[in-house]
Order: sequence, then structure tokens, then C-alpha cells
Amino acid sequence: FPTPTPGDKFTFGLWTVGWQARDPFGDATRPHLDPVESVHRLAELGAYGVTFHDDDLIPFGSDSDERDKHIQRFKDALDATGMKVPMATTNTFTHPVFKDGAFTNNDRDIRRYATRKIMRNMDLAAELGAETYVFWGGREGSEVDAGKNVGDALSRYKEGLDLLCQYVIDKGYNLKFAIEPKPNEPRGDILLPTIGHALAFINELEHPEMVGLNPEVGHEQMSNLNFVHGIAQALWHKKLFHIDLNGQHGPKFDQDLVFGHGDLQSAFFLVDLLEASDYDGPRHFDYKPMRTEDIDGVWASAAANMRTYILLREKAKAFRADPRVQAALEASRVGGTAVPTLAPGETYDDLVADVDANFDVEAAAARGYHYVQLDQLAIEHLLGTA
Ligand code: GCO
Ligand code: MN
Ligand code: MN
Ligand code: MN
Repeated sequence: FPTPTPGDKFTFGLWTVGWQARDPFGDATRPHLDPVESVHRLAELGAYGVTFHDDDLIPFGSDSDERDKHIQRFKDALDATGMKVPMATTNTFTHPVFKDGAFTNNDRDIRRYATRKIMRNMDLAAELGAETYVFWGGREGSEVDAGKNVGDALSRYKEGLDLLCQYVIDKGYNLKFAIEPKPNEPRGDILLPTIGHALAFINELEHPEMVGLNPEVGHEQMSNLNFVHGIAQALWHKKLFHIDLNGQHGPKFDQDLVFGHGDLQSAFFLVDLLEASDYDGPRHFDYKPMRTEDIDGVWASAAANMRTYILLREKAKAFRADPRVQAALEASRVGGTAVPTLAPGETYDDLVADVDANFDVEAAAARGYHYVQLDQLAIEHLLGTA
């Protein structure tokens, strides 16, 4: 079995393995995990790098001496292990000051404070060599429709991102932004709830070329959407800047399970799509080791994410190489959409002139697409019986 190597570009948020498993009904089940230990353990497991929120690394409220110490210890761990920091983000959701959001808070002073907090961590992200800065607006939203003017809130969201793009340009940082959609949780309804909403929003920004997406498997599945289609569309728009891999069992609370520990067939087709695409960024795991796990279970779950990805990558390769699959793709005429509907130089007049007499509508209607055969072959590859 191939073990993960840095070449696989597997990355983990410090907040994933470090999650102490506090939930709305119960206390933490695990002790605090030192980020330095996480860097070392993840490096030993074959990861490429780590990502962080400011507060994961520098506890909220640290003075500047403490801040420097935390950063120095982290840098030492990165140097010792060769681990990279390809992405960073800001915690604008834990402290009670953010209970009504950051960019879209009804209180202007809180919006200004949040923006400063983000800028400060962007400086650190750039210093550590990050190329992507993620915006997950978990608290940007509402529970009460009358409580939020959504149009104005979106204007403030845009204002915040436009200002930060200008900051990155003026500072000469090599940072792109990636918006992470989520439909709900912690807010009853979150702004920019899906890939589609976020894509449309990006077009309204001052620097749309600097802003893309960080879609998360479970977040689209919480809305019962097809994540593979979502990623395919993000790729089509050239907006897949980063990705959060994890597992989810359909529409319910955000489970953040290990990658593949949910809709396995969707995970298979996701890996199949990603590996064939020109996306060469990190394969970032944003999961939560289950609350039932002790610290050994945490490291086992981290390894499980990478093992599952590698296994699915192998399966996808075998699926594509299988002559029966190639024949089934042919039988389903999957290549057909690659051919433009009009021939080169043809116009709608030519289309109208191509009279119905040349087309046997009943025969066309009778054609089968044989998709079941294709799907069954995928299942058999997944089950290891192909
Ligand atoms: C979630 C989100 C978050 C964000 C992360 C980055 O599960 O709701 O994925 O984990 O990705 O906090 O800000
Ligand atoms: Mn999630
Ligand atoms: Mn995420
Ligand atoms: Mn998460």
C-alpha cells in the first residue's frame, strides 16, 4: 500500500486534529493539543503541510511577546519537519464579539475590528509563504429574516473583500482569496450558502480574478447538492482555488467526518475528477476526529483521510483503464458533449434548414443511455471485485 508522501500535497488544519470535541451538548473529551506536536505528528504521517486560523496558533488575547513566542515555536517546527503552510484563515466566529458576524455584522465597530484582525493574520500568512487565504463566514448570516438586510450585508461583505484585495496588492503579497460556502451552522442561515451563490458574488467584486472558492464536501451535501458537480462547475469557472475534503451523511448537522466516511461513491468520483483536472493545489482535510476518539484515534483518523484519498486515486485510475469501462463510456456516448452542437461556421439559419425530415425523432427517443452499467462498474471497482 502506497504511504502518503509530501508529493501528495495532503494538508490539515491545526483545528482538525486539535479539535477538543466540545459540542453544544457536551464538554471537551480531549486535552489541548500543542500545534508544534501536530506539525511533527502530521509530518511523520506523510503530510505536506498545515493550515491555521490565527487563534489556533496564537490564543485570542495574547500580548505581542506571547504572540512572537508562539510564532517562533511554530516556525521552528516547520523548519525541523519541512512542513509548508499553503493556506491560512481567520477566526471570526469563536469570540462572542462575532456572534452577529464579522464583515456583515450590524455593528460597524465590530466590522472594523474584524477587518483589522484579518489583516494582521494576512501579514503572518504571507510571511509563512501561504498562497491562499480562506474566508469561511460561519457567523455571517441570521436566524431572523427581519434581523438582517441581506442586500446591505452583501455590500459590506464586498466592501470588506475589496479592501483586503487592495491590501494584498499594495503589500505585494502572493495571496489569493478562497471563499468557503456553507448553508447553515453555526448561523441558522449563512450568507453565500453554496458554491453557486459564491460564484455569482465573486463577479461583483472589484478584483474577481483574485477571488475563488474553497468548497467543502460536507457543506454542499448538507444542502443535498452534488459535490462532484459543484467542483466540476468551480473548475469550469477556473475558481477552484482550494478544497476542504471530509465526509458527510446527507442533509443534517455538519459532520466533518473523515474523507470518504460518508457518501463513498461521491468521494470516488470527486477524486476521479480532481486527479484528471488541472487543480494542483493542496488536498486539504477539514474534518473533525469524532468526539468518541482518544488521542490515538485522532492520529489514526488523520492517517485514514490520506489512506482513503490514495485508495480512491488508485481505484479511479483502474476504473479509467478498464476496457469494460471504456466500452461502457462509449455505449453511454459520454464523449458526445465534447462536440459542439453546431459545426464550425454553421449558423442558426443552417440549423433551421436542417429540417426535421433528416431526424427520426422516434428512433432518437428510443435510444438507451446504459448509465446503470456504467455506475455498476464503478461500484464493482469500489468493492474490489472488478
Ligand atoms: C466548517 C468549516 C470550518 C472552516 C474553517 C476555516 O466545518 O464549518 O469547514 O471548519 O473551514 O474554520 O475557517
Ligand atoms: Mn464542515
Ligand atoms: Mn472547511
Ligand atoms: Mn470544518
